[in-house]
Amino acid sequence: MRALTDRWRDEFPGLSHTTYLNTCSLGQLSRRSRTAVYQFLELWMRYGASAWYETWTGEVAEARARFARLIHAQPHEVALLPNISVALSVIASSLDYRQRPEVVLTEMDFPTLPYQWLAREREGARVRFLPSPDRISVPLTAFADAIGPQTALVATSHVFFTSGWIQDMTAVSALAHMHGALSLFDGYQAAGQIPVDVKAADVDIYLSGGLKWLLGGPGVVFMYVKESLIERLEPTTTGWFASENMFQFDPYHFDRARDARRFETGTPAMAAVYAANAGMGIIEEIGVDSVRARTQELVATLVGELRAAGFQPRVPDDLERHGGIVMVPLADPPSVVQALARQYNIIVDARPGALRISPYFYNTEEELRYLVDSLVTILAQSPSTQQPS
Ligand SMILES: Cc1ncc(COP(=O)(O)O)c(C=O)c1O
Repeated sequence: MRALTDRWRDEFPGLSHTTYLNTCSLGQLSRRSRTAVYQFLELWMRYGASAWYETWTGEVAEARARFARLIHAQPHEVALLPNISVALSVIASSLDYRQRPEVVLTEMDFPTLPYQWLAREREGARVRFLPSPDRISVPLTAFADAIGPQTALVATSHVFFTSGWIQDMTAVSALAHMHGALSLFDGYQAAGQIPVDVKAADVDIYLSGGLKWLLGGPGVVFMYVKESLIERLEPTTTGWFASENMFQFDPYHFDRARDARRFETGTPAMAAVYAANAGMGIIEEIGVDSVRARTQELVATLVGELRAAGFQPRVPDDLERHGGIVMVPLADPPSVVQALARQYNIIVDARPGALRISPYFYNTEEELRYLVDSLVTILAQSPSTQQPS
């Protein structure tokens, strides 16, 4: 599938001067997203506020529809929010913790998930953390043991940000539903790089956004809420975009929207919407299945090269359950990240105890080999940054 990379590489000018292997922090900027943001600026300059009615509302509708197509949902089930934290906070504000105080999540989830409910302990919320025995995955049996009649919500990741492990959304949702709880998946590390079908998995709430694998940059995330659930939730973190008739400007009555707009708050960041639309357009044009196949190929090459060089990447055995994130345990990951950037112009990332490398369809096998060779040289220069034995 090298041809796919060769066809798309020029769309990402940043790749011509940097070896970029950090898509799980921030996806590369495409020419299309850059052009789209300029287009937004042009409209702003030319039309001012009337751009809202002429074009910007249409651009928001397009973003909703594109994300819905990517995850097999309907546009009216998708809300736009500025980031994952705000989206989670809106959901957290919709739950009544008196009857069902518990929120089940895992120690592998991005910390902004637990923070939402740790911050609501005053309201009666209780966080139940599931441990990961191997720092890669969390067994389904742990979910089965923890979820019960006290559980309001199972809120976890679709793909773990420090292992690339793809959770079984169907099984986790079924376990939640068996006890009358809801399921929520943070798909920031998933949508774009792996196929997502929220209907097939019977997920209640699903979040993702442009920042990483959808190639849209920061500023907008999308939150899917299952149609039959929308009117059952009454968020108290809210705003005028959540009202059914927002342009009536009626300060006395707050009538929540009947569609997923009821989870929105205020004015969306339009530049981000333009960038996100262009990024999602690229993923749609390539097709998620092809993106996934090429990324899997690159991950397999990277893991093979790392092992051949004597490293022990912490990755799942089952490649079908592994997204494009490869962790390499090292004694001092931040200093290796710095050395790779300074000496070799290679961008990777560090998380506690490990280097985090995330190739995407636009990367080449040569870049992966260059990374592994550079790693070997750096570690030979500075034995304190060696891999723990
Ligand atoms: C899985 C996951 N969730 C959430 C976030 C960030 O959330 P927010 O949009 O609130 O900054 C990240 C990283 O940026 C992440 O990897």
